[in-house]
Amino acid sequence: MRLQKYIAQSGITSRRKAEELILQGRVKVNDKVIRKLGTKVDPKKDRVKVDDRIIKLEEKKIYIMLNKPVGYVTTLKSKHGDKIVIDLVKEIEERVFPVGRLDKDTSGLLLMTNDGDLAYKLTHPKYEVLKTYLALVEGVPNSKKMNKFRKGLKIDGRKTARAYIRLVKNYGDSSLLEISIHEGRNRQVRKMCEHIRHPVIKLKRIAIGKLELGDLEVGKWRYLTDKEVKYLKSLK
Ligand code: URA
Repeated sequence: MRLQKYIAQSGITSRRKAEELILQGRVKVNDKVIRKLGTKVDPKKDRVKVDDRIIKLEEKKIYIMLNKPVGYVTTLKSKHGDKIVIDLVKEIEERVFPVGRLDKDTSGLLLMTNDGDLAYKLTHPKYEVLKTYLALVEGVPNSKKMNKFRKGLKIDGRKTARAYIRLVKNYGDSSLLEISIHEGRNRQVRKMCEHIRHPVIKLKRIAIGKLELGDLEVGKWRYLTDKEVKYLKSLK
C-alpha cells in the first residue's frame, strides 16, 4: 500500500495533505524518515509515524447477519473439534466476531461485526435489547404456565425479567411458541421452558429488536442495510 494512502486511511488527514506531510519530512516508516511519495508500506508489518506519533489504519466497520446452522459454536476458537461460525463468513476480509452467543444446538439470527462499541451495547444487560425465538417444545403449555413464564421464573437462583410468550401452533404432543426475552443468560430460553416442564426440542432466534432474520437461508449471511445499522446504533 502506498504511504500517502495509508496515512489518509488512518483518518488523520486527506490524501493530498498526506503527500505534503511526506514531502515535509514529518513521516517515518520504521523510525526512518521517508520523503519519497509512493513508497510502499505493509500495513501488517510496518510502523508508520507522523510527527513521531504512531498511526494505524482505520478498519472499515462491517455489520452482517448470519443464519447460524445447528452444530456450530459461536466461540472464536474451536474446542473439541466443533465447527465455528467464523468459518461460514470466511470470504469477508475484515475480522468480524459474533455479537453475543447462540448455543451450538440453536439456529437462527446471529449478528457479526468488527464494531466493538455496538457489540458491547447489544450484549450489555443494561440495554436489554429484546431477542425473539421460535421454540418447538414438548406438550402444549396452558395459560397458567404461560403467565408464570411472562412474570418471571427462578433460574439458577435468580428470577428472570419480564418475558413474552405466545402459542403459535398446537401440534397436540408438541407446540410452537414465540418467546421474547431481554436478558441473555446462558441457555436461558431452554431453562425457562424446562422450568414450566415443556422442554425445548428445537430453538431458533428470529429477531433482535426489530431486526428480523426473514428468509435468509440456513448457513448464509448478508450485510445489514444502512437503515438496519442505524436502527441498531439508535437502540438505547
Ligand atoms: N436461549 C437459549 O436457551 N439458547 C440460546 O442459544 C439462546 C437463548
